[in-house]
Amino acid sequence: MKGTVLITGASGGFGMLFAQAFEEQGYALLLHGRDKARLQMTLDSLKRPQSHRMLLGGLSARKDVDALIEKIMLKDDLVGIVNNAGFGVWGAFEMCESVPQLDVLRVDLIAPVMLAHALLPRLKRQHGFIVNVSSLAGETPLPYMSTYAAGKAGLTFWSEALRAEMQGLVTVVTLAPGPSPTGFRDISGAPKGKGGLFSTSPKVVVEAAMQSLSQGGGYCVPGWRHKALWCLQKLMPRVLSLPIMARYLKP
Ligand SMILES: NC(=O)c1ccc[n+]([C@@H]2O[C@H](COP(=O)([O-])OP(=O)(O)OC[C@H]3O[C@@H](n4cnc5c(N)ncnc54)[C@H](OP(=O)(O)O)[C@@H]3O)[C@@H](O)[C@H]2O)c1
Repeated sequence: MKGTVLITGASGGFGMLFAQAFEEQGYALLLHGRDKARLQMTLDSLKRPQSHRMLLGGLSARKDVDALIEKIMLKDDLVGIVNNAGFGVWGAFEMCESVPQLDVLRVDLIAPVMLAHALLPRLKRQHGFIVNVSSLAGETPLPYMSTYAAGKAGLTFWSEALRAEMQGLVTVVTLAPGPSPTGFRDISGAPKGKGGLFSTSPKVVVEAAMQSLSQGGGYCVPGWRHKALWCLQKLMPRVLSLPIMARYLKP
């Protein structure tokens, strides 16, 4: 075994594919998530399920993240973290309950920062890595998904700064995908058809992240459709993009 990798949100979508990709490379896995049945499905999809462990728990409460860190501290050979768990809340900011919107920030931003801060000494010792699964939503303010975009913008900026600080010590990938057909839209309540033009398979997304990791890390926008969306985001001034997105995403 090459060491142990923690994957959060391993119960489906990108998380399951990350599990398969890291197992293929010979790592042991800690698969974290809240949904035991779906986490078990990820474990069952692996070739050596006996080499891996499921860790059940949430990430929105500080005590849950602390409990997770405590469990991981028992593993001396931790080499990598994939901060993958995340969700959004679709709807007008003032109409949506505040607790889930704050949970978006806790799960998508605060938990990755807490995990990385606690585990960096280990990762440095092993010349390990962190993959932060952010989003192209972090490149543009998103009306009607405002806290999600804010959380991902924070995650991208923090991850990129960390990447510079950790150069030569810990490899950091900031993964910024656009739309991809996973459970994400159902959980976030986002409408199905939106952004379909740019939809890219989860396989392409995870393969791009794995390639970036093997090449020393970086800011990774996967696939040509997501790259095209990124270019659009960069080219279009906010004065134009904000009203367009508001009209497009309005429930
Ligand atoms: N699919 C897209 O279009 C897209 C685009 C850009 C970025 N992303 C990002 O990609 C990452 C993976 O998402 P996915 O697309 O693979 O969607 P997914 O299939 O819904 O997977 C998300 C994972 O996050 C975990 N999660 C959700 N809410 C949580 C909460 N409140 N507390 C703890 N864990 C929670 C879930 O695990 P449990 O329910 O078992 O806890 C689930 O396994 C997310 O960070 C998402 O923001 C997705």
